[in-house]
Amino acid sequence: MMITYTEARDRLRRHGQEHIVRFWDQLNDTERATLLTDIEQVDFELLTGLINELVLTEPAPEYFDCIEPVDVIPPPEPGRPDADEALEAGEAALRAGRVGAMVVAGGQGTRLGCSGPKGAYPIGPITGKSLFEYHAGKILNIQDRYGCVAPWYIMVSEANHAETRQFFEEHDYFGLEPDQTVFFQQAMVPCVDEAGFMLLDQRHRLARNPNGHGGAIPAMVESGICGHAKERGIDILSYFQVDNWALNVIDPHFVGYHLLHGAEMSSKAHRKRKVRENVGIHCMCDGEYRVIEYSELDRFPQLLETDAGGNPLHFAGNPAIHVLSVDFIEKVYRNYREFPWHKAHKKIAYVNEAGERVLPQSPNGYKFETFVFDALRFIRHDPVVVEIHRKNEYTPIKELAGSNSVEEARRLRTQWWAEWLEAAGYAVPRDKDGRVLYPIEISPRFAMTKDEFLRKANSFSWPMDGPLAIGPEGEVETVRAVQSV
Ligand code: UTP
Repeated sequence: MMITYTEARDRLRRHGQEHIVRFWDQLNDTERATLLTDIEQVDFELLTGLINELVLTEPAPEYFDCIEPVDVIPPPEPGRPDADEALEAGEAALRAGRVGAMVVAGGQGTRLGCSGPKGAYPIGPITGKSLFEYHAGKILNIQDRYGCVAPWYIMVSEANHAETRQFFEEHDYFGLEPDQTVFFQQAMVPCVDEAGFMLLDQRHRLARNPNGHGGAIPAMVESGICGHAKERGIDILSYFQVDNWALNVIDPHFVGYHLLHGAEMSSKAHRKRKVRENVGIHCMCDGEYRVIEYSELDRFPQLLETDAGGNPLHFAGNPAIHVLSVDFIEKVYRNYREFPWHKAHKKIAYVNEAGERVLPQSPNGYKFETFVFDALRFIRHDPVVVEIHRKNEYTPIKELAGSNSVEEARRLRTQWWAEWLEAAGYAVPRDKDGRVLYPIEISPRFAMTKDEFLRKANSFSWPMDGPLAIGPEGEVETVRAVQSV
């Protein structure tokens, strides 16, 4: 049963937040119920701790005597013994049905400015296929290859849960079985002003934000996802972010390295192009494994050092691709009170004393978040970090144009697929500077790797005189919307 007004007010008063119910007399019954539900869901003990430790006092910045690069396994190549052994181990785990996929898709996609779930973004420049459809196609490919069912755990947030489910239903789950796609919701956490007071987004709603991708850890346990996985014999999860179009979703080599090292959580890394690139860095800090965020670079000048050729010494950028063991998620959950929280100074819409909603022009408060890579400090083994070829695994979509954008991702994917077509003997039209003239898409159900593409390509003859989208069966797909590359 929902808490009563008196209980809510007492709870707020005990934590110095009674102003939250100041419009109570003006609310109708439905609005009152909504506000009580919002208040009931607040973990006041946690929130008060965050306010005291992150807002009312400036936390002492972390300091490390010694920051060293992590050891990185070079990109797996066929014929290299460790890579072959990892592939064999990963493939065996897939055939045995031990591997699931896990995506975090609860973010707000503010920079991209999309109104719906980011995973629904129509990334395909020709077909308009969404990020979700591409990821699903890769799961289908893996299932066909290894004769397994890989459950897909999809983390959503309050703001996009219903829309995301509806999107999957409208698209018949992109060919997956409906019961293998399992949605779970991350928690929300209240935002506060610069003095640590909770804000109202509307007179009957708290201002809140999803608790960061690190919220996947408690949500996996509390929503019964870890239990769901274990019941099905799934003990390994391939973790990714919904906005990385190029990634493999499940990579047998990576799963294999994780298993061969008896790892709890493993990571992929990409080679940074320059020291000031906007990515976190995998490193060892006084012997503990950390990812240091790019916003912290200036506090750690060692991370800006380069070799004689000007290349970053700490090159292991974090593309946010991991493999986690289900037991490890449960272990971190048991120690979740030690999990670090971060604050972000943001513009937060709020209701002022007059009851009007204000959209501030500059940051006026704090959002609190946790990051999944902070789970790495809980591992009890040497880091397992596998380097990726960036252009085939990392095209994050944060903005519409510029770096890490829709525009860049479409250009990089087209270039990548053009190389496959050229390797299969096609003359891909290019301009005088070598840029591919027309967009290209290749369905991941048809081919996820160049080798797979080349094995199948000689049964087809594709036209090369305009945009080309190759479908799941190798057919030419209908042009729905052509975006330039
Ligand atoms: P980002 O930090 O890039 O955030 O998330 P975002 O929401 O996509 O975009 P901005 O910052 O508002 O512009 C990286 C990944 O983590 C997920 C996102 O959905 C994305 O896949 N994420 C982020 C969550 O699932 N929950 C969160 O609370 C935050």
